[in-house]
Amino acid sequence: MKTLELGTVPETLGALPETMKAVVIRKDREGDPMKAMQIEDVEIPELGAHDVLVLVMAAGVNFNGVWATRGTPVSVFKMHSEPMHIAGSDASGIVWKVGREVRRWKVGDEVIVHCNQSCGECPECNGLDPMACEQQKIWGYETSWGSFAQFTKVQAQQLLPKPKHLTWEEAASYGLTFFTAYRMLVGQAQVQAGDNVLVWGAAGGLGIFAVQICQLYGANPIAVVSTKDKAGLVNELGVKMVIERSQYNLKQPVPGDAVDVKRRLTEGRRFGAEIRRLTGGKDVDIVFEHVGADTFYTSVLVAKKFGKVVICGATSGYELDFDVRYLWMRQKSILGSHFANAYQAERANRLILEKKIRPVLDEVFPFAETALAHELMAQNKHKGKMVIRVQAPGSQASARGVAA
Ligand SMILES: NC(=O)c1ccc[n+]([C@@H]2O[C@H](COP(=O)([O-])OP(=O)(O)OC[C@H]3O[C@@H](n4cnc5c(N)ncnc54)[C@H](OP(=O)(O)O)[C@@H]3O)[C@@H](O)[C@H]2O)c1
Repeated sequence: MKTLELGTVPETLGALPETMKAVVIRKDREGDPMKAMQIEDVEIPELGAHDVLVLVMAAGVNFNGVWATRGTPVSVFKMHSEPMHIAGSDASGIVWKVGREVRRWKVGDEVIVHCNQSCGECPECNGLDPMACEQQKIWGYETSWGSFAQFTKVQAQQLLPKPKHLTWEEAASYGLTFFTAYRMLVGQAQVQAGDNVLVWGAAGGLGIFAVQICQLYGANPIAVVSTKDKAGLVNELGVKMVIERSQYNLKQPVPGDAVDVKRRLTEGRRFGAEIRRLTGGKDVDIVFEHVGADTFYTSVLVAKKFGKVVICGATSGYELDFDVRYLWMRQKSILGSHFANAYQAERANRLILEKKIRPVLDEVFPFAETALAHELMAQNKHKGKMVIRVQAPGSQASARGVAA
């Protein structure tokens, strides 16, 4: 077999074409996704002893693909030594080949992939938390050979069983954001029944899982969204308390502009009053943060005494500012969080297997529109999750009338 047609699965398990199609980013075309991501025929990666080659059925779109195309805040080519970058940190697929030390998985197993890689040998991996490993990397972002290709190379410990009740596309949609939200809320912030939890971007990739985790643990999510359409989505997930952020101007003030500094405090207090109106007079126990510059000040402001702000990202900018008096006088905590370890990913995946949490797949794109899906994400023109169909059966025709 010279090449493998998209949307097909070879009859012989393990049969390999000579090359594979991949959506490739190269250093000299970093920039917007439409410019940076181009389909090329590339070699199929070699496996190490603990690696697995997965035939990618579908691949989930995440914001790290946008960061990878832009080359900011850091170029992916500073994070690994490969000459090309294949992005993609979510996949569903079929185990196609295993390294010689792999015991838990065999060719033909149907799997999804969690995106944390670590050395597996250091004390941190074997006692503390693989997220603390010096060699910890996010597959498909800090490493190449991610999921926007016909085959992907992963560590065997990244595999999890694919929920049988989900389609390939649904199964590829949730890992990165759900497992991240799980560590943030269950691991770091230790959400409790009865907690009020403010969820920024509640109709986005992380948010749709944050609100479901809150509900599962008996906490009360307060969802922040920007449009009626997105409010409709969180309502469908059963969320009753919703704030439309367009009603408030919470952005970072112009440096040195005292009037603008006051504006943000006044608007933040007005936002806090709306939270109390919705909760019956209570401030929030936990703020679920990933927006960064535009919201962090308000997050610290509105958390209750002894409350927690848990943060994993900074879509609107990573240079944050806040008024520390609200932090120390009211003894609040700021908790950093990054993806999840394999145990947390396994525990969270169980909630999907048991149908206690559900993916929210908004749109499926053909392989040729991988860049377009990232462009929509970059422009915040999506909701829920977007997925690229790779080898799963189904149409490879344009989703938006753009690609052939
Ligand atoms: N460290 C980790 O392990 C990790 C894991 C996952 C994601 N992340 C990071 O977390 C961030 C969010 O990821 P995601 O998958 O949830 O992305 P997403 O699907 O784009 O959702 C983010 C949401 O944030 C809201 N938002 C965007 N700009 C905003 C602004 N200026 N003010 C307030 N809200 C704003 C948008 O909702 P509305 O417009 O409706 O308000 C959007 O739906 C990204 O930066 C990503 O890189 C980090």
